[in-house]
Amino acid sequence: MFNQDTITRFQSTETPFYYYNLDVLRQTLQACHDASSKYGFHVHYALKANFNPKVLEMVKSFGFGADCVSGGEVKAAMDFNFGHDKVVFAGVGKADKEINLALDNDIFCFNVESVQELEIINELAQAKSKIANVAIRINPNVDANTHAHITTGLDENKFGVNMWQLDDVVAALKACAHIKFTGIHFHIGSQITDMEVYKVLCGRINEIQDWFEQRGFPVTVLNAGGGLGVDYYNPDTNTITDFETYFKIFADNLNVKPGQEVHFELGRALVAQSASLISRVLYVKNGHKKNFLVLDAGMTELMRPMLYQAYHEIENLTRQGEVNDLKYDIVGPICESTDCFRKDVDFPTSLRGDLIAIRTAGAYGEVMASGYNLRDRVQSVYSV
Ligand code: LLP
Repeated sequence: MFNQDTITRFQSTETPFYYYNLDVLRQTLQACHDASSKYGFHVHYALKANFNPKVLEMVKSFGFGADCVSGGEVKAAMDFNFGHDKVVFAGVGKADKEINLALDNDIFCFNVESVQELEIINELAQAKSKIANVAIRINPNVDANTHAHITTGLDENKFGVNMWQLDDVVAALKACAHIKFTGIHFHIGSQITDMEVYKVLCGRINEIQDWFEQRGFPVTVLNAGGGLGVDYYNPDTNTITDFETYFKIFADNLNVKPGQEVHFELGRALVAQSASLISRVLYVKNGHKKNFLVLDAGMTELMRPMLYQAYHEIENLTRQGEVNDLKYDIVGPICESTDCFRKDVDFPTSLRGDLIAIRTAGAYGEVMASGYNLRDRVQSVYSV
């Protein structure tokens, strides 16, 4: 929902740009903070969802930690003072220089995804006479019931160590003197809206922590990853995700033992609703079979619809309240047929220059923008 003052401000701003509603961001972070701290749970924000500096500053101000997947993200987390003891480094392909950077910064923990990676971290830590804390990312073979491109916890996915490889992990842990085993890590996918999935995950976590303990490896951190979904269909009426229900599932179903910490790595649910991509209609093409609105934003600014067939609400801000009397394919300017935000959208008759809002674009939007076609880098504008 945009009030008239905001729309007037958009009219004098060059498009396309990401518009951040910092009140929505603040309220979302507050809700997550309150719901998680009720149980003493620790949330590390997944920087990959959005590393816009204003977003990072605000996330950090709520005391969340940082979940990073590259040397660049580890560096950003350090620069934004998340605190070295609150930085976790995940990812299936950590390069040696990235591991070294994380070791130099004494991060809290590496989430390790293979036996070979464990051995390399051990070697690099030894060269620095350090001990690296690691959690093992385990692939629990739980179907997250989400889009195939963003599911990660099945045997056929490239992530984590499979259950049948755990004996090898234990053998490697015994052999690696510069590794300290701290816990177990899971991340089964993204945009998960079926809460039952998390109950299944809790069951697996309970079994696996017992398995490690029976072999003499006490588990101090249970890391359930991220993945909590948002409502892309109702950005105005269902703006803040239901963190209460989410965390309660873990509080009720996880077998948390004395001295253990429970960690989460939320990305999308914290930032998605706080931004919209604002664009203008460049051209209207009315045809016999199709009407097109060609926008000045495309897959170079927001790739999700093209990559995952992701749904985003789209509104004509210039014609709010007018009847929807036409159907349009709403497309970008890029020289690719896939550069289409949505097909057959019921829309008011629109004209060149109309302002268009593509909603719920705060997660995996600006950060996935590309320089394809040598287009200008998309700008960011913030609520006042
Ligand atoms: N932890 C790990 C190990 C992850 O791989 C991810 C996301 C997260 C946490 C955060 O997940 P979230 O809470 O945001 O669901 N670009 C895709 C989403 C890719 C997610 C990658 N991993 C999209 O636009 O839907």
